[in-house]
Amino acid sequence: MKTALVIAIDGPSGAGKSSSSRQLAERLGYRYIDTGALYRIIGLLAWERHVSTDDSEGLAVLCRDLPLRFVSDPSGARILLGERDITTAIRQPEVSQMASKVSAQPAVRQALLILQRQMGQDGGVVLEGRDIGTVVFPDADVKFFLDASPEERGRRRHDELQQQGVTTTLEATLREMAERDQRDSERAHAPLRRAEDAIVVDSTTLALEEVVSLLLQHVAAVRKC
Ligand code: DC
Repeated sequence: MKTALVIAIDGPSGAGKSSSSRQLAERLGYRYIDTGALYRIIGLLAWERHVSTDDSEGLAVLCRDLPLRFVSDPSGARILLGERDITTAIRQPEVSQMASKVSAQPAVRQALLILQRQMGQDGGVVLEGRDIGTVVFPDADVKFFLDASPEERGRRRHDELQQQGVTTTLEATLREMAERDQRDSERAHAPLRRAEDAIVVDSTTLALEEVVSLLLQHVAAVRKC
């Protein structure tokens, strides 16, 4: 039986990647790696330090020697940058847009590519992102492409923002999501796209538990090979 697999989960925003990846990792006893959080950190730093999203060199500097720590405590998974807890700050809508913009810069992608490969190299990981199955781990043992209708994705994203205390309308959320997905899919470097050998899961009408059990079935089949 194969152990310590590398599992890639890609897809657009609001497709349910985060919750299902986290639960899948938990059920397998694997580490969960949210690669979008890395781009969000660079987006947050660029925003706060007024580094333009076109300033390739300035953004590359932000990627250097990030004092990053992913910790798990009773309040959940937290992300620390030095001593600062940035778990909530990186989820702000402005940071979502900044993350999408900085992620189009080759210098940022290259720096974070190295980091992501280091984080996943020992296997036993579920990595969630946009280009995991195509670029970061093209030889991943299992690849999923998680999708859902734009309306459903917008609704989920809006609910998520409301839970975080962000006041916004469903229309604005849908607009921002469409803008971000278009930018993520049309950029020249490592755009969001389904790897040819990825298993497509449409979560539009599925509950989280149903998605996770589908993913587990596919992983179990690969483990037996
Ligand atoms: O998954 P997320 O919404 O937290 O990601 C934020 C942004 O980061 C997303 O708009 C595109 C970018 N991203 C990327 O380009 N490649 C990844 N592997 C993950 C995220």
